[in-house]
Amino acid sequence: MCGIVGYVGPRPSQDILLAGLARLEYRGYDSAGIAVIDEAGSLDMRKKAGKLAVLRDSLTDAAMPDGSTGIGHTRWATHGGPTDVNAHPHLADDDKLAVIHNGIIENFAALRDELTAEGVTFLSETDTEVAAALLGREYRASEDLQTAFRNVVNRLEGAFTLLAMHEDHPGLVVGARRNSPLVIGLGEGENFLGSDVAAFVEHTRSALAIGQDQIVAITPAQVTVTDFDGNPVEAQPFEVSWDAAAAEKGGWSSFMAKEVAEQPEAVANTIRGRVQGDQVVIPELDGLDDLFTGIRRVIITACGTASYAALVGKYAIEQWARVPVDVELAHEFRYRDPVIGDDTLVVSISQSGETMDTLMAVKYARERGARTLSVCNTQGATIPRESDAVVYTHAGPEVAVASTKAFSAQITALLLLGLHMGRVRGSLDASAADVVAELQELPEKVAQVLADETEHVSQLAGWMADTRSVLFLGRHVGYPIALEGALKLKEISYIHAEGFAAGELKHGPIALIEPGQPVFVIVPSPRHSALIHSKVVSNIQEIRARGARVIVVAEEGDAAVLPYADEVIRIPLASPLLEPLLAVVPLQIFAMALATAKGLDVDQPRNLAKSVTVE
Ligand code: F6R
Repeated sequence: MCGIVGYVGPRPSQDILLAGLARLEYRGYDSAGIAVIDEAGSLDMRKKAGKLAVLRDSLTDAAMPDGSTGIGHTRWATHGGPTDVNAHPHLADDDKLAVIHNGIIENFAALRDELTAEGVTFLSETDTEVAAALLGREYRASEDLQTAFRNVVNRLEGAFTLLAMHEDHPGLVVGARRNSPLVIGLGEGENFLGSDVAAFVEHTRSALAIGQDQIVAITPAQVTVTDFDGNPVEAQPFEVSWDAAAAEKGGWSSFMAKEVAEQPEAVANTIRGRVQGDQVVIPELDGLDDLFTGIRRVIITACGTASYAALVGKYAIEQWARVPVDVELAHEFRYRDPVIGDDTLVVSISQSGETMDTLMAVKYARERGARTLSVCNTQGATIPRESDAVVYTHAGPEVAVASTKAFSAQITALLLLGLHMGRVRGSLDASAADVVAELQELPEKVAQVLADETEHVSQLAGWMADTRSVLFLGRHVGYPIALEGALKLKEISYIHAEGFAAGELKHGPIALIEPGQPVFVIVPSPRHSALIHSKVVSNIQEIRARGARVIVVAEEGDAAVLPYADEVIRIPLASPLLEPLLAVVPLQIFAMALATAKGLDVDQPRNLAKSVTVE
């Protein structure tokens, strides 16, 4: 939530800031702004409500002086609505100082009262302006930006990434983070700050990750990192593994379309290097067998789409590692008194690695003595740093707000984790080797679904553009896919959608079925369990009898569904735990095509942001 970029170097900064913000716009897109210290040494600022394009247009209509020190922000509103005034940067010290912020300053009301009593007046409703005013006051007292900045961050409570610059100090941008992301990009004679590496990857792939409660100061020649008391600390260097082109649309109509199409590659990249013969060996977990032995319980914690991947992970880990697994929404987890301890492994799943709810769940689990492992798609992110171990998904940058390829990569990583744990715990049976072999065929099978079904499903969506409600049913691992199909549809097409466990239908939701009601049913393979398959076919008959329009997702050759289906979407044959990776693809295509048919922006749906860094 909120994207932040900072630059110091020899080049004019406006284009660098705007390009960085364009890459971070997925983090929030209800207003944007930049500030630069111009060649004459004055601080200039422009900010606008609306998407980044509105700010760009305003700079085209009326140019602002350029300069080589700058900061930029794209906002997802928390305190105060998306207006020009509430947009960042916020200024202080007679407009010589600019501040941008991501997060929520929890003690902002007390600080605002303190400053108001001293005669400060505020223009906006934001907590950020309070931080800017506080920095202005501290700067006037010390006349040293870094000292003043340190004093300010020590007064703030809550979550924040804060960047600031002052026209008395051209060539210097200071930043700090607590529970919100900030990374450093190291250039030649120039340096960058960003909420994530996308902000600067077109200029450098050499980066430094900053820890919690740390402060950074960048000049063109130097980067210094300290703790909140000013003691020097080592930042952790890393190389960004993808290049700028990976975060471009590259001719696709949307990032989502590109990312859906990239799923075979995302799955293949996540598997690569983790299979040895007929076994799964995850090199990052080498020497960490202790994480998996002697545990009595696994809790997988995540939010949204990642929590549906977690549900598939539950089946995989229970089947192969023979240990009970619970899935907990991260935002519920720590607000009760969960029974966890050193015999519990808490696995967190997060594409961004920054989701505040998930981060807090991980910290809570650690405080309670649990072992922690994260499944994450973003290098240098906070959640892996807070965990004992990490298994990275290698989906590449996911820009569209609605998660697709990261979801597939998460399921893949959880399948690998289940097989790795099973091997370590000695609980695998002979069939595991077949699954390992089949894993390698998965990318091709996902590609086959894309090739065979994109046109068919898109047509179906076009015919259904006026639909007001769609239901999704699944059983076993089809259930999380039903939930994911419904979430995709509601978040990008704004159509009411619900996912249900198929067996749950007759316990209430069947009352929703009326003639013409579209219902997607994920049908499990009869080859795995004739019983589960027959139950789902019965469920289809029940809704069909009440007039539902039934669209089934079934494996090739499953003829039992034909008499009751209005439409059949086919997926290739696969083992039961691998099927979700195939069944989800048509549902993603359906949501995307339907949103497109309604003329909606599939990449940036209303009210959402990609990385939810507030609780
Ligand atoms: C939906 C979606 C969200 C995220 C959730 C967790 O398409 O993307 O539901 O899955 O906000 O985000 P991460 O995985 O970054 O923790």
